[in-house]
Amino acid sequence: MRLRRLAGWIAGLALAAVVLVGAAFGVARYLTRDTVTVPDYQPSAERGALLAAAAGCVTCHTAEDADAVPLAGGRALETPFGTFYGPNITPDPAHGIGGWTDADFLAALGHGVAPDGSDYYPAFPYTSFTGMTPEDMLDIKAWLFSQPPSPNSPPDHDLAFPYGIRVGLTFWKLMNFAPGPLPPEPGRNEAWHRGRYLVTAVAHCGECHTPRDSFGAMDMSRAFAGSETGPTGEAVPNITPDPETGIGTWSERDLAFFLQSGMTPAGDFAGGEMSAVIRGTAQLSAEDRAAIAAYVMSLPPIRNQVGPVRTAAPETLGEVWE
Ligand code: HEC
Ligand code: HEC
Repeated sequence: MRLRRLAGWIAGLALAAVVLVGAAFGVARYLTRDTVTVPDYQPSAERGALLAAAAGCVTCHTAEDADAVPLAGGRALETPFGTFYGPNITPDPAHGIGGWTDADFLAALGHGVAPDGSDYYPAFPYTSFTGMTPEDMLDIKAWLFSQPPSPNSPPDHDLAFPYGIRVGLTFWKLMNFAPGPLPPEPGRNEAWHRGRYLVTAVAHCGECHTPRDSFGAMDMSRAFAGSETGPTGEAVPNITPDPETGIGTWSERDLAFFLQSGMTPAGDFAGGEMSAVIRGTAQLSAEDRAAIAAYVMSLPPIRNQVGPVRTAAPETLGEVWE
């Protein structure tokens, strides 16, 4: 008798949870439908190409095989939650996003909402892209739509339970996602704001360089302080200007040069995920790279050693010779 009552309670609670999820889902859909406004704007595919390069769209949406069609999807992104596969974002109407309206595109990048109203996983860094202007997003769309369509169908994501349940993202977003651009900061000049825009929105540096909490959200109290478990499991260095554990010994010019060439002041070259980022930042204007450097060097220094302490060059040589 007792057991039955308990079972009834559990069933009731489960039902209430389902209803709540449904309601939250409906509210989220309603909110996003209201906030997407398509500006009256003539987009430029040429500007979009540069923005897309800095935003790494091709990196995540192109398979790693040598003959993979750019943007046709299939790149595996391994995360603690499972493996995501970048979807096909070529203008193919059936397998890509060829049928999308401008509003669909702004809702996806700015709100993480699909045309059918479902939510996207934050493996798609809309958590950063949300800071982009709608005009820049439309430039990117114009560039994407100028690329050749592909009928490729990438595999479905392969996620561990319960992450495969997309509806759970409604809650994740309510807790962890604030849509829209950052407010202007008084006392900072235009270059700093441009740098902040490129770093936090377009080039989404923090998606890799900021550690994540147990919900997989960026821990903004330690913004840019490095992460032991980057997007592909590798360690991502601290890029706050802390002199010992970050890049506090670099000058703004060092950082701007690094974003152009991939070379650090110690003469090393960026590897791993960062080399793809450099291919994008190398295409930006020198002013934009200088703005990124000015912003990054203005961040509060945070002491956080990621990975092994790097020994200075002479000591390393000594070790080699001993
Ligand atoms: C870090 C990897 C990553 C980067 C960088 C990235 N994406 Fe994605 N994107 C994803 C993943 C993963 C998904 C699938 C999300 C899901 O299924 O919930 C996705 C989904 C999308 C979708 C939805 C596709 C669909 O069929 O519903 C669009 C559109 C999109 N991305 C556009 C872009 C654009 C434009 C850029 C560059 C500005 C970009 N992405 C950069 C990983 C990335
Ligand atoms: C996709 C993940 C990813 C993104 C996005 C990313 N980085 Fe990195 N970054 C890395 C990784 C991984 C390394 C380490 C590379 C290595 O070991 O050679 C790195 C290295 C660096 C370094 C060298 C630090 C050192 O101590 O040697 C700097 C500086 C840097 N990134 C700045 C940036 C800036 C600025 C941005 C945005 C414009 C950015 N990164 C975006 C992953 C990323």
